[in-house]
Amino acid sequence: MSAQETVLVVDDEKVIRDGCTRILSPEGFQVLTAENGQDALEVLDRQPTNVILCDLKMPVMGALEVLEEVSQRYPDIPVIIITGHGTVESAVDCMKKGAYDFITKPFRADHVVLVVKRALEKQALERRARQLQEERARSLYALATEQSRVRTIVGCMADGVLITTPDLEVVLHNPAATRLLESMPPENQGGALADYISDENLCKALRDLLANAKGEEEYIAQELILGQKYLRALSALVYGPERQVLGTVTVLHDITSFKELDEMKSNFVHQVSHELRSPLSAINQQHTVILDGLAGELTAKQRELLKRGQGRIQGLLDMINDLLDVARIESGHGVQQQVVLNLADILGETVALLESKAEERGLSLELNLPPELPLVQADARSMEEVFTNLISNAINYTPDGGTVTVSTISHGEYLELRVSDTGVGIAPEEIPKIFDKFYRVKHPETRQVIGTGLGLSIVKGIIEAHRGSVEVESKPGVGTTFRVLLPTISEGKLADYGQE
Ligand SMILES: Nc1ncnc2c1ncn2[C@@H]1O[C@H](COP(=O)(O)OP(=O)(O)O)[C@@H](O)[C@H]1O
Ligand SMILES: [Mg+2]
Repeated sequence: MSAQETVLVVDDEKVIRDGCTRILSPEGFQVLTAENGQDALEVLDRQPTNVILCDLKMPVMGALEVLEEVSQRYPDIPVIIITGHGTVESAVDCMKKGAYDFITKPFRADHVVLVVKRALEKQALERRARQLQEERARSLYALATEQSRVRTIVGCMADGVLITTPDLEVVLHNPAATRLLESMPPENQGGALADYISDENLCKALRDLLANAKGEEEYIAQELILGQKYLRALSALVYGPERQVLGTVTVLHDITSFKELDEMKSNFVHQVSHELRSPLSAINQQHTVILDGLAGELTAKQRELLKRGQGRIQGLLDMINDLLDVARIESGHGVQQQVVLNLADILGETVALLESKAEERGLSLELNLPPELPLVQADARSMEEVFTNLISNAINYTPDGGTVTVSTISHGEYLELRVSDTGVGIAPEEIPKIFDKFYRVKHPETRQVIGTGLGLSIVKGIIEAHRGSVEVESKPGVGTTFRVLLPTISEGKLADYGQE
């Protein structure tokens, strides 16, 4: 027994009070006594008590009244009634009024101890049960508070939030999601996600995430197009305490205005480039007329200055053409005319066109083609542009006397096109940047090369629009190889095109 427990014995007979004290004290109880109900209530006021042993019949205030008072003021304290023979019925009445048990006089010591101990146990159990109930109520309250807080936060967010089960049933979504997706079910009403979102990419991404769940934090970011709207969707899995998948969460951010701004910027660049091209072309032509001597004889100095000027104008025209190409690719109009192509022809023509440029520089330009090239589905003009850029680069960034080699390797589903040179090479830290728009490597040996830094971004844009990829391998001072991989057309597919 941890703290000493107190028993109040209420009886008008001193023998009983003393008897009970003698029995209970050795058991470790503190025993208090009172001669009648009135006294007992006074004692209870002063002393915390655990159990009451109360005689049924007493002068001044009997057990029934004591019971009534105690049950009101100290509902915790069990009351055990002491009765004489023949008054058992009244004792039973007391039980009905809330007494815990009764013992009959004359009683045996061990019986009294047993009943008191049982009453205490019951009291302890009741207390514990009450405590648990209070704790439960408290944690339910905390949970409800937390839920309400999360609900408020999610409800106020400008970004859409969608929560689904692992079966992609919508279990929660906020007003922003309703606004962005336009056809969400009413709040708190489930439904399959696929029924509410027209863009299939979201469901597909969520299914991928679910199928590959590894118990780690992982998310997929993608752009969705819904009617006039562009949304950025960030999806992640929700795990339970045992890392089991509970569902998915997607946050939707409206990027329509960014897209519009981006398009405005592209349109602006496109328009300005276009406007600049005609006057520059005119100036270029006039220079040519003058240089050809059709406007009178020129001195050597005049000729040299005009030539230099024309070089600059050509540089500007190249840049403008590149900018127009970038705009065309970004608008998605650049590669629309994809047809079945044998790249051998295009490679041959491009190499022939650049032959003179290579010769000027004392470079050998080699083209190694197998007798038969697998066919690809591509836009001819775009392919020409890719190879012109890659081969021009190889020529531009290779010192005089070097070699540029164009070759192909067939990998079944893919055709690899290689442009290798024995040039200045590209430092490893520059490689990730060379495909960026306007990025040019500063290299002392290639300072004189005129360029815009747009060529490789155009190449990458075109190749990716053809579901291909571009890779670079380079050793500074040794040379560079650009490898383009393009999907080939299988025999089966070729039949669909009505060709052999
Ligand atoms: N074959 C190559 N060898 C070495 N450097 C290269 C090669 N091709 C491209 N580069 C580097 O990548 C940069 C970007 O190329 P590109 O986009 O075609 O722009 P530009 O040729 O107009 O500078 C070049 O400025 C050059 O520094
Ligand atoms: Mg270039």
